[in-house]
Amino acid sequence: MYRIWLLLFLGGFVVPGVWSVQSLEMLVGKIPFLQAVNGSTVMLPCTYASCIGIKDLYFNWQFNENGTMQKVCDSTIVSESSVPHVSIYRDRVEFVGNNIKNNVSILLWNITFDDGGQYTCFGRNPKEKGRNHSTIFTLIVVDELRVVDNTLTIMIASAVGGSIAALMGFMLIKNFTLFVLSKIEEKNKECLVTSSGIDNTENGLSGSKQDSKPTPKKK
Ligand SMILES: *[C@@H]1O[C@H](CO)[C@@H](O)[C@H](O)[C@H]1NC(C)=O
Ligand SMILES: *[C@@H]1O[C@H](CO)[C@@H](O)[C@H](O)[C@H]1NC(C)=O
Ligand SMILES: *[C@@H]1O[C@H](CO)[C@@H](O)[C@H](O)[C@H]1NC(C)=O
Ligand SMILES: *[C@@H]1O[C@H](CO)[C@@H](O)[C@H](O)[C@H]1NC(C)=O
Ligand SMILES: *[C@@H]1O[C@H](CO)[C@@H](O)[C@H](O)[C@H]1NC(C)=O
Repeated sequence: MYRIWLLLFLGGFVVPGVWSVQSLEMLVGKIPFLQAVNGSTVMLPCTYASCIGIKDLYFNWQFNENGTMQKVCDSTIVSESSVPHVSIYRDRVEFVGNNIKNNVSILLWNITFDDGGQYTCFGRNPKEKGRNHSTIFTLIVVDELRVVDNTLTIMIASAVGGSIAALMGFMLIKNFTLFVLSKIEEKNKECLVTSSGIDNTENGLSGSKQDSKPTPKKK
């Protein structure tokens, strides 16, 4: 009896969060940053997820340059299966996602130190009352990859530690919600499972296996 009440009580809080899972989401994969050597070519990963499907989805990539957002590229995706024509506003950028499996990733050729920083992947789906969603991917440009020296990795890890903790909390809530919902309502299940499946996208980073380990502690 007590447990049922607790479930309903928690459900009341958690369920509103679930509806936002059903609306548009832009995802950069499990690891929202990449460290790369100057001169190399990198992919900035981004996919979108929408439970009710898309129509004329507007998306863009923006780069935070000295505090102002500069558009990197943008386009409108007519439907899930169409290949969008993407306008590019920045040098050395190539659109490679081609909307295959909701992929709107871009390639950054021959990166320079000026390319390092925060990239925002933004989407707006008119089918969902123009609901906006965006996510940030951070590119760190270094002059050589330090495999042995972990200082930078730890620095980065502590910087993103907070967001990873938030993400883990979110996953916990989400998983719990899935459980609650599966008890309460069966028909939304499919949708939610699809969405959480997309959360597992890898972003091609070689170190992505580390994700399952706990975040390194700051010394
Ligand atoms: C990367 O930067 C370093 C230091 O500025 C430079 O010596 C090196 O030639 C650069 N490498 C490439 C591939 O541009
Ligand atoms: C940002 O700052 C750099 C170096 O200070 C400068 O070269 C660049 O033009 C600036 N970009 C914008 C958009 O102001
Ligand atoms: C990247 O650099 C290589 C070698 O310097 C050059 O051949 C290539 O055209 C460059 N690509 C772009 C898109 O600038
Ligand atoms: C997106 O497309 C790029 C280029 O084809 C590919 O390398 C990448 O793995 C794709 N990402 C996902 C999540 O499918
Ligand atoms: C979405 O973002 C655009 C600007 O990019 C803004 O004009 C619009 O009001 C936003 N819509 C919602 C529902 O937040």
